[in-house]
Amino acid sequence: MRGMRGLFVTGTDTGVGKTVVAAALAATLRAEGWDVGVWKPVQSGHPLHHPKGDAARLLRLAGVDDPPEAVCALALAAPLAPQVAARLEGRAVDPEALLAHGQALARRHALVVAEGAGGVLVPLAPGFYVLDLMAQLGLPVVLAARAGLGTVNHTLLTAEAVRRRGLSLVGVVLVGGPAEEPAAPLAGPPLDPDVICRATNPELIAAGGVTVLGRLPWLEEPLTTDRLVEAVRRHLDLAPLRAALAGQAPAAAGPGSAKGRHAEGGPPGPVPAR
Ligand SMILES: Nc1ncnc2c1ncn2[C@@H]1O[C@H](COP(=O)(O)OP(=O)(O)OP(=O)(O)O)[C@@H](O)[C@H]1O
Ligand SMILES: [Mg+2]
Repeated sequence: MRGMRGLFVTGTDTGVGKTVVAAALAATLRAEGWDVGVWKPVQSGHPLHHPKGDAARLLRLAGVDDPPEAVCALALAAPLAPQVAARLEGRAVDPEALLAHGQALARRHALVVAEGAGGVLVPLAPGFYVLDLMAQLGLPVVLAARAGLGTVNHTLLTAEAVRRRGLSLVGVVLVGGPAEEPAAPLAGPPLDPDVICRATNPELIAAGGVTVLGRLPWLEEPLTTDRLVEAVRRHLDLAPLRAALAGQAPAAAGPGSAKGRHAEGGPPGPVPAR
């Protein structure tokens, strides 16, 4: 879609940490001076203003001051795939309306961090999947995945689907587990499968051709913007993301530059180091 710059956060599944990862990335970029908006095109499971809904959580955790109406095009009550949740309310997801909503948000902010619904092949409307929306937007993709068993398969399958549509996959963020890894987890018994997975997943995902940005550990509740920013800085390597953002043409102006609020053309602004 013309005019939208930023990234699209998808997941290997529902409940894997997309909202937390999207908010954490948006908050970190904002802390560096970027003007970042958050976007949840379709939310299911909560009405728009519900504090547990993704629109409200994205706004709160990213520290963005936009009205929920600007952040979510369609909120559906049932905690089901949007196509079904919409049908239960006698409504339908309109792809054109979603794109128009996204375009309006892109005019408010230099960058938009968008969050999908479930995984890439979740149907939004008959014949229109999350992946179709992603393809129309053309944003670089960050994939959130569980840090445990089953993740290598889900991650590589999702990566293959994303790349087949010609989208750029920046990398995967693994979510979960403690902040610190025990030393030498594969050294010998007791062999905790969970620990082994955390140690081997990054290796196997990278061997499958997908960049691992890092593992965001399980954080103490309540999650806050500051805690998320600190965790990103400590645990994730955002260099590939910065490169993807800098490569978006016409380049989004960097943080703090004159064009940083509503970038339209011009040379790329400075991209600060981590
Ligand atoms: N790193 C983390 N530390 C602590 N809690 C987390 C972390 N990541 C996710 N959670 C919690 O796990 C739950 C699921 O995370 P989240 O809502 O981000 O998943 P999701 O993929 O966005 O789900 P959905 O498919 O419903 O949009 C939430 O309660 C969230 O607060
Ligand atoms: Mg979510």
